[in-house]
Amino acid sequence: MTHFLDIHTTDRAALRAILDQAEAMKAARGDRPKGTPDDELPLQGRVVALIFEKPSTRTRVSFDVGVRQLGGTSMVLSGAEMQLGHGETIADTARVLSRYVDLIMIRTFGEDILHEMAEHASVPVINGLTDNSHPCQIMADVMTFEEHRGPIAGKRVAWMGDGNNVAQSFLHAAERFGFDFTFSGPQQLDPPEALVGGLRRAGRDVRIERDPARAVADADLVVTDTWVSMGDAESSRQRRHNLLRPYQVNERLMAAAPEHALVMHCLPAHRGEEITDGVLDGPRSVVFDEAENRLHAQKAIMRWCLGV
Ligand code: CP
Ligand code: NVA
Repeated sequence: MTHFLDIHTTDRAALRAILDQAEAMKAARGDRPKGTPDDELPLQGRVVALIFEKPSTRTRVSFDVGVRQLGGTSMVLSGAEMQLGHGETIADTARVLSRYVDLIMIRTFGEDILHEMAEHASVPVINGLTDNSHPCQIMADVMTFEEHRGPIAGKRVAWMGDGNNVAQSFLHAAERFGFDFTFSGPQQLDPPEALVGGLRRAGRDVRIERDPARAVADADLVVTDTWVSMGDAESSRQRRHNLLRPYQVNERLMAAAPEHALVMHCLPAHRGEEITDGVLDGPRSVVFDEAENRLHAQKAIMRWCLGV
């Protein structure tokens, strides 16, 4: 079974092949209307279940539209409205859904839930975000960087703020795609030490830099994300804001970055918190290309999972 669970558990050649196919499909579509099918329809006759245990705009719409463009059918399911949200086990849900659908995408809480789903499903499972990872996002991010700047190998990504799920997938990607990484945030919100250590042992240059201006000084890409992720305790909001405020991506910070440095944010953005309007809407921001590329990258991920 070919699941897409995490960047670091997918082999390098497969990740590269997925990105190559995503680029090719994007180019082949050109600017035809979004609701029209692709020339090739590899998902014809296939049904995809999209399960959300957390809110979503991009993941939900891009997967749904992507399935349609590939000739398949999708259904968006809210975890709370499924029996899953009322005590049915993940394992039983996986077994049952596998009798109805050809592919499952799930956005959930713990990584253990994702792995349990994959273990008991007899169809491929795609990770649409957990508390610890967001691999589809990072595939779109690498694709976007390379569209604008060429190969990401040997470049440096500076992450500003919380060492959250998206940051952790970036660390996974640094090892697979061969780029270096600077984390800049408060010590209390560092990414897991094991992840940082593992990446260093894999030969990547990983820096923890508490001074935001120094962190971006040699960055090719500056990335940030919300200060309070879905699943973080609401009671931690004020503490997080206080800790993270010095790491806001604003015009002053970007003045300390090289001229060519791009800015990404997986969105949704909290304008005026982790990023200012001036940066998000400014010339170095590629956030809407990044959002668009979710569609193309995920179409290629689904094809790879199904081998079509
Ligand atoms: N970036 C991202 O995954 O957005 P959604 O939460 O809207 O799906
Ligand atoms: N870190 C954010 C990403 C949202 C796409 C969250 O998990 O809420």
